[in-house]
Order: sequence, then C-alpha cells, then structure tokens
Amino acid sequence: MLPRKLKQLVFVSFHIFLVVLFVVANNDFCASVFETHVDFTLLDHVINKTDVADELECQLKCMGNKSCKSFNVHRNGNNAKKLCELNNKTRQMKPGDFKRKKGSTYYGSVQGTCVDVSRQRSGKTKGGQCHPNYKGKLCQTRKLGQSAANPGKSCKHILESKDSEGDGEYWIDPEGKGNPLKVYCDMKTDGGGWLLVANFVLNSTSPPDWTAESSYRGIRNFANNKMGISVSALKELRSHLSFTQLRFHCSKKQGRTFHVTTVSNSTGEAVVEYFSGQKDVRPDSCGSFQRMEDDNSKLVIECESWSNDGKWGFNGGDVERRLYTGFARVPRNYNWNLPYGSWYCDDWYHDPVSPGDFWKIYVR
Ligand SMILES: *[C@@H]1O[C@H](CO)[C@@H](O)[C@H](O)[C@H]1NC(C)=O
Ligand SMILES: *[C@@H]1O[C@H](CO)[C@@H](O)[C@H](O)[C@H]1NC(C)=O
Ligand SMILES: *[C@@H]1O[C@H](CO)[C@@H](O)[C@H](O)[C@H]1NC(C)=O
Ligand SMILES: *[C@@H]1O[C@H](CO)[C@@H](O)[C@H](O)[C@H]1NC(C)=O
Ligand SMILES: *[C@@H]1O[C@H](CO)[C@@H](O)[C@H](O)[C@H]1NC(C)=O
Repeated sequence: MLPRKLKQLVFVSFHIFLVVLFVVANNDFCASVFETHVDFTLLDHVINKTDVADELECQLKCMGNKSCKSFNVHRNGNNAKKLCELNNKTRQMKPGDFKRKKGSTYYGSVQGTCVDVSRQRSGKTKGGQCHPNYKGKLCQTRKLGQSAANPGKSCKHILESKDSEGDGEYWIDPEGKGNPLKVYCDMKTDGGGWLLVANFVLNSTSPPDWTAESSYRGIRNFANNKMGISVSALKELRSHLSFTQLRFHCSKKQGRTFHVTTVSNSTGEAVVEYFSGQKDVRPDSCGSFQRMEDDNSKLVIECESWSNDGKWGFNGGDVERRLYTGFARVPRNYNWNLPYGSWYCDDWYHDPVSPGDFWKIYVR
C-alpha cells in the first residue's frame, strides 16, 4: 500500500497534469474549450432559438454573438435538425437553473476560446487551431475547399489560401457559378496545388474498359480508378482555370516510373496548348519538361528520339485521345499508352501489368 502522503502527492500531481493538458488542448483546438454536459440544459436564459444541422453550427452562432455565454442543443424528435438555444448566462452564474434533461446537451464557458487563452499566455493573438473546416480568430471562417458551401477555384487556389490539409479530396468551383464538384488534389509533389484530371489504377492484371469523359466535370469520378477526360474537356477546363502546367506520372511494379512536369516557359506552354487542343502543332520534347525525383524512365533520357523527330505525340491518331495514346513514345521501345488493352508505361509490350500499376495526369 502507498503511504498516505505519497497518495496525496500522486493525486495532486494528477490534477496539475490535467490542468496542463487542458491548457495545451485549448491552444490546439478551440472547440475543446467548451465544457460539455450530456443530458443537461440551462433553463430560462435563452436569448435566441434556431434549428441547426449540428452542434458545431450552434457553437459558431454562439461565438458570433457577444451576449451568448453558453448554449443548449436539443434533439428535436425524429427531425434531422436540432434545436439550438443560445444562453446569456452560464451554469456557474445560475447553478439553480442547470437541470437534467434527456436528449439535450449543455456547452459552457464560451468566453474561454483559444484566442483568449493564447492572448493571456503570449500577450497577443496566436490563432490557435479550430475545427478542421474552420479558421480565423473566432474560428468562424469556413476554410476553402472543405465543403460544397465554400469551394476553392482550383487546387492551386486552395493551396495558396493556406487552407490545404495535404493530399486528398477538396471542393472546387472552376466556373465560379455556384456549381462545385469534389476533386482530388495533390498538395505535396513539387510544391503541390495539382488537380487530378486522369486517374487509372489497376486492381488486377486485366485492365478495365473505359471511355474518356467528354466534360471536364468527369474529373469528379477520380475514385473509380478509370477516369480520363478528353482533349476538348481539358480545353474547357483550361478556359476556366488557366492552368499552366501538366504533370504525367505512371509506374509499373514490374517496370519503371515515368514522372515529369512541363516547365513554366514557352517550351512547356506549347505542350499544354497541344494537349488541351488549343494548338495542333506537335511540341518539342527536350527542354519542355522537368524530371521528378522518382522518375527512372528511358523516355526522359531519350527525349530527342520521341516519334523519331523529338516531339510529343505522333502524326495521325485521334485528337481526343491525344493524352492517352502514344503521347510520349520512342517507337517500339518506350511509350505511354492506355486504351485498347495496351497499357504501356515507359515500355512497349515487354513489361507485364500488376495490380497497383497506375497512370495519372494532373494540371496546375
Ligand atoms: C438574458 O436573457 C433574458 C431572457 O432570457 C433577459 O430577460 C435578460 O435581460 C438577459 N440578460 C442580459 C444581461 O442580457
Ligand atoms: C436568432 O438569430 C438569428 C441569426 O442567427 C436571427 O436571424 C434571428 O432573428 C434571431 N432570433 C431572435 C428571436 O432574436
Ligand atoms: C445576439 O443575439 C440577440 C438575440 O438574437 C440579438 O438581439 C443581439 O443583437 C445579438 N448580438 C450580436 C452582437 O449579434
Ligand atoms: C476493379 O476495377 C474495376 C474498374 O477499374 C471495377 O469495376 C471493379 O469493381 C474493381 N474490382 C475490385 C475488386 O476492386
Ligand atoms: C524552358 O526551360 C527548360 C528547362 O529549364 C529549358 O531547357 C528550355 O530551354 C527553356 N525554353 C525556353 C524557350 O526558354
């Protein structure tokens, strides 16, 4: 058995530890500042009642109103919406009005937001962290791209707004007309800001049948792992986003990896114009791209031999499939090809396909 003194000490230290944890938590996450009491409510100090989708929405309403000191959220029968009540008192100010109520939750201590805590501690506002979808001093500003209600213009736009949270799904509205769609953004490679416009990931050794999406909005189907858009769809997208770079990335487990971005000068621009159907002139290959770290392709080394004339694409072929058929190839040796069951990545018949092999195209 522990001696009494030691037991007391352990107990006291545990409490100090809890307090430290709480302060750290405050700085890391605004919402944790609220104390929560499930199946409780504060009666008779309601200044506003509204329906809300969730607790967070009620919290934001409370944070946006100086008179609000705490709030109750009530289940509303079978209704999906909940009832949000803003109070102008806390349970500490009115202990007599703090009552048990099944299906309700009380949230208190609104004044102790992360902003206040960090101001006390460092003498200035530090911001702290908010609910994942929100930012700002009071955590009231929705982050770009996290919801259909607040889409970014593009992946690059979301990255530049510092609202990116790594690779993944984001909402964008390229036309800016209130018609957003959920897309995939690569926020890391070569600085990030890349929008996925073609995505093929094999899940077996028998590659899928697929057709190119004729509208740029087909990029929302990235998750089906057999999504590619046509040249005219890419042209449509470029008219909204004015992207300036393309990135091509393919890899075979039993082969090599081809991974390049077009460069940001007139040589690279010619490639973008060719593949988005703005010009029909086959662009020079050498000097038009930059090699990414994991690239170990022969195509890159032999750029002067592409199609025997050192240029992207080849004469003839379907313009709409330009992005997928022999767009970078050294005849009979190395190629990038997806349709017709011939899945090449820096090879020409010789490297077999395996599950996990992929072909991806991005714009930025
Ligand atoms: C708080 O709200 C109640 C109504 O619920 C109102 O009667 C009271 O005056 C308010 N108190 C303050 C300080 O705003
Ligand atoms: C409650 O607040 C909402 C805004 O969140 C406002 O539109 C409404 O008029 C308020 N209701 C009352 C009774 O003050
Ligand atoms: C807070 O909400 C009350 C009730 O809806 C409203 O009368 C008051 O103007 C609001 N105050 C602020 C600062 O929004
Ligand atoms: C494999 O991918 C195809 C499309 O590419 C899809 O139809 C099929 O359901 C996938 N199978 C598995 C097991 O994921
Ligand atoms: C574009 O940049 C690449 C790589 O930096 C370079 O090799 C090429 O000559 C440049 N082209 C022009 C027209 O400046």
